[in-house]
Order: sequence, then C-alpha cells, then structure tokens
Amino acid sequence: MRVLLLTGKGGVGKTSLAAASALAAAEHGHRVFLLSTDAAHSLGDSFGHTIGGRAVEVAPRVTAQEVGVLDELDRAWSEIQEWLRELLREETAEVVAEELLVFPGMEELVSLRSVRQVEATGDYDLCIVDCAPTGDTLRMLRFPDALHLFMENFWELKRKSARVARPIVNRLVPGKLIPEEQFFDAFERLYREVDDVRQILLDADRTSARLVVNPARVVVEETRRSFAYLSLYGVATDAVLVNRVLPPDAAHGYFARWAEREAHELGEIEASFPVPILQAPLYPHEVVGADALRRLGTAIYGERDPAGIFTRARPIRLRKRAGRTVLEIELPGASKEELDVALHGDRLCVRVRDAERILSLPGSVAGRPIEEARLEGGVLELVFGG
Ligand SMILES: Nc1ncnc2c1ncn2[C@@H]1O[C@H](COP(=O)(O)OP(=O)(O)OP(=O)(O)O)[C@@H](O)[C@H]1O
Ligand SMILES: [Mg+2]
Repeated sequence: MRVLLLTGKGGVGKTSLAAASALAAAEHGHRVFLLSTDAAHSLGDSFGHTIGGRAVEVAPRVTAQEVGVLDELDRAWSEIQEWLRELLREETAEVVAEELLVFPGMEELVSLRSVRQVEATGDYDLCIVDCAPTGDTLRMLRFPDALHLFMENFWELKRKSARVARPIVNRLVPGKLIPEEQFFDAFERLYREVDDVRQILLDADRTSARLVVNPARVVVEETRRSFAYLSLYGVATDAVLVNRVLPPDAAHGYFARWAEREAHELGEIEASFPVPILQAPLYPHEVVGADALRRLGTAIYGERDPAGIFTRARPIRLRKRAGRTVLEIELPGASKEELDVALHGDRLCVRVRDAERILSLPGSVAGRPIEEARLEGGVLELVFGG
C-alpha cells in the first residue's frame, strides 16, 4: 500500500488537497483510504457532510475516516506519557530529558497507527493522510528516535540491576506501586508499535510526503524548513503542491501587486525544492463537495496518477554510522574549493559558489560540533560529535 502524507502550514489547503488527491486517485482505479489525523478534523467540511471516527465510503472507491478519541490502548500510552513526565522531573534522568521533550508528536504517531490497520485490511492500495500542520508532524518524526534513546538507557538500567530501576519506577508515581513488569511491558508494546509506524514512514517506496504551500513568503519560509527536516529524518518528499495561485485573469487592478509578489514567490519555490512543483489556482469560492474537490484534483495533478512516486531524490539524509550521526547532503558537481560549511547553533549554512542553503538541524544533532567533513562522489558528509 502506498502512503501519502499531506502536510504544510496551517490553512494552506492540506485537507482540501488530501480529499482532492483521494478522488483523483480513485479515478485512476485505486482503492483509497483517506485518513485524517489532525485533531481539528475537517475532512467532513470538505466533503460537505459528517465523516467521523468510523470508516465511511465518501465516493466510489474512496473510504474516509477521522481518527477519533483515544481508544483503550491509547489510554495505556498516555499513562506511559504520565510516567515519563514524572521521570523528566527526576534529576537522575537528566541525560534523556532533552530528547524526551517531544511528546506532542506522540499523538500524531498514535493516530498514524491507523495506517497500519488500514494496510492490514488488504482492501486498499493507497492511504492518504491529512496531517496536522507541519510542526506536529515534525515532532512526530523525532519521537521514535527519542523513544529509542530512552529505551536504550532504561533497558540498560534495568539490566544492571532491579535495585536501580525499582526505586525510580516507584518514585514516578509516589504512593502508587507500579508492578515493574507491567511498566516494561507497556513500554515494549509502545516501542514496537512506534517502530512499525516508523518503518512505514521511512520507506520511500511506500511513503511520500507532499508539502502543501501557498505562494506567500511566510509560508514558503516555513515549508523550506519542513522540507529540510523531513529529508533529514529520512521521509521522502516527492512533490510540493502550490495551492491558491492567483489565476492570470484575476491579476489586475487591486490584485496586480499581489500577482507580482506571487510570481516572485513561485520563483523562490522552484529554487528551494528540488522536487516536482504542482500548482492549483485560487478559486472564487471555497472548495467544498465532491465536484469542487475533483476540479481541484484535476488542476493539481492533470493526467498524473496521484499514487505515483513523483521523484526518488533524497537530497538530505541523516544516518547513524558506527555510533555517530552523519548528515549527508547531495551536492552534485560541487568541489571542495567552492564549498563552505558553517554551524551557527542549530542552523547549518552550506554555501556552494554563490548559492547558500540554511538548514535547521534536528534536535538530535543541534548544538553538537562537526568532527569531520568530507566531500565524496558529490555527497557532503558531516560527522557530528557526541
Ligand atoms: N484553491 C483554493 N481556492 C479557494 N479556496 C480554497 C482553495 N483551497 C482551499 N480552499 C479553502 O480554504 C480553506 C482552508 O482549506 P483547508 O481546510 O483545506 O486547509 P488546511 O491546510 O487543511 O487547514 P488546517 O491547517 O486548518 O487544517 C477552506 O475553506 C477551503 O475550502
Ligand atoms: Mg486541515
């Protein structure tokens, strides 16, 4: 099953384009599951009727669902969350505290377990996810790493001696003795599920992120950061969907200046994202109902099959190698002499000739020194220290 994650800044048209992509894919013969993980569900608004927590058919070959309130298992997860919050207050756990301050992403990840459930039915060959605005989606991507780090430390603790682990566990919820086994079991389950979701997200043959933008400067800036983050974490973005582009016959009078600014931003978008850029116009009305969504789908994809993989490029990747974190950036044709790399806090500046790229580093490497830099076969490798 292919998975498409539609994400982007608030209000840019993620939900509309997720729905439009679903209808367009169904017309190409795919059996589509359209899933909303954004707590502020609005798939129903797009289709013009209620959808809700149960899977319903919204069009031929399109089933939709808004992942609802936390079920039993999710409640178990939030219990673990509580424990961890307590743990963060423990001085003893300070080494892992920073990496664990990413819990907001967990809710998204819990919702994404639904992707596995959809896959398990075997009834769908495409799952389109209407994600929360980028901030949450990115936090979600950090979460598995954080959990992994925590697990390593915690298991280590447990292995060393129950003498160490038990007092910690018992201190987490004072006066309430938690059976140690239950605690670790819950953790292991959580870890397995998170890892399963991660496997799906990081598999570029299955999952593509599509970033939705509007041709406006603030949006483009945030999206550039998101693109780098997604790449750094290993999630492949295969297209940028530019929504609400002022059509030529509206670009005069009062809107002439608008059109000029948009043209400039479209240029920036082309220069910033090394993936196919697809565009849809601003309509003179809201995009509500299947007909309007189909028109939007045709505008953005044309004849293309939305389920396709639009590019296989992975321009920036974060890897673990021999216990070190290595950042790889594709710089085809660059030579050492014309290359400059500078680190400013959590921002990495990479300059090739006159082109400069500023990347926001993920928390796992932000603030760490670069111990080694190599340029080999058109790939810049930066090895971060501990
Ligand atoms: N191309 C377009 N032309 C005109 N209106 C549009 C277009 N695309 C989306 N809209 C309208 O803009 C509003 C916001 O769109 P949508 O809900 O899809 O954005 P979103 O990114 O999902 O927002 P949120 O971040 O709140 O989830 C809706 O009213 C929608 O109908
Ligand atoms: Mg939305």
